[in-house]
Amino acid sequence: MSYKNILVNRDRNICTVTVNRPSKLNALNIETIAELSAALKAADADPKVRVVILSGAGDKAFVAGADVSEFASFSKQKGRELSATGHRELFDMIPRMGTPVIAAINGYALGGGLELAMSCHIRIASENAVMGLPETGLGVIPGYGGTQRLPKLVGKGPAFEIILSAKKIDANEALRIGLINRVMPQDRLTEACTDLAKRIAVNSPTAVAAAIRAVNSDEDAAEEGANVEIEAFASCFDSEDFKEGTSAFLEKRKPKFALE
Ligand code: COA
Repeated sequence: MSYKNILVNRDRNICTVTVNRPSKLNALNIETIAELSAALKAADADPKVRVVILSGAGDKAFVAGADVSEFASFSKQKGRELSATGHRELFDMIPRMGTPVIAAINGYALGGGLELAMSCHIRIASENAVMGLPETGLGVIPGYGGTQRLPKLVGKGPAFEIILSAKKIDANEALRIGLINRVMPQDRLTEACTDLAKRIAVNSPTAVAAAIRAVNSDEDAAEEGANVEIEAFASCFDSEDFKEGTSAFLEKRKPKFALE
């Protein structure tokens, strides 16, 4: 199958999926999310694939978030659909895959980009990686699982700080708080991910899938939290703050949010 926004390459039993919109820092539009979903489902169904490595094209970004230009004009209902479809087709699908997915975070992993990395089973970042959930600065909240997965990975306190301040953190800080497993020089990131993938690939695929099922057994119980996130995300689309935040991003200026 051929894709417009992603590259898929299989080398023996390791499949590499690369988001390929470098001129937009690999921002996730709806079409890219659908393509990622299809490619990852195909990899999961292919017995020849033992591990997937997910990355971004270029040397600047993993994924710099959901495509703001696409959803800036959305209504509350379309915002709800965007979040719910993303959850169902990609962000809640990846943790349930029997084939492990390693996120190779090779630069900016912001918003939906960090949420994508957090959906993966393992995260390794390059030294230049920058992570964060900038959504509150755009008048919205993380809508692809970020409000649920970040507190699980790093604890509620650090998660609140990252989400509410919209601050960006570097790879060493991400390592310190447990958001990622390892930091590598950028030119050795692929090698490190491939080495780990090879170590996994020699183990029993049945046992690897069973281990993922067991470790991620909380995914089904997390459905209620996901639904709260989807509704809270949608509710932002009705607000003046959302219009101001997204317009400011597109006009390349700082937003001014009202006090009331
Ligand atoms: N959605 C849509 N377009 C995006 C994008 C996103 N999330 N992130 C980057 N882009 C686009 C920019 O608009 C720009 O496009 P243009 O050249 O047509 O103007 C291009 O990618 C390059 O980005 P630019 O902002 O010029 O690069 P930079 O090096 O100055 O800044 C970032 C890099 C990551 C700090 C900045 O792009 C950014 O803040 N992106 C948005 C992050 C975000 O808020 N994500 C969450 C969205 S919910």
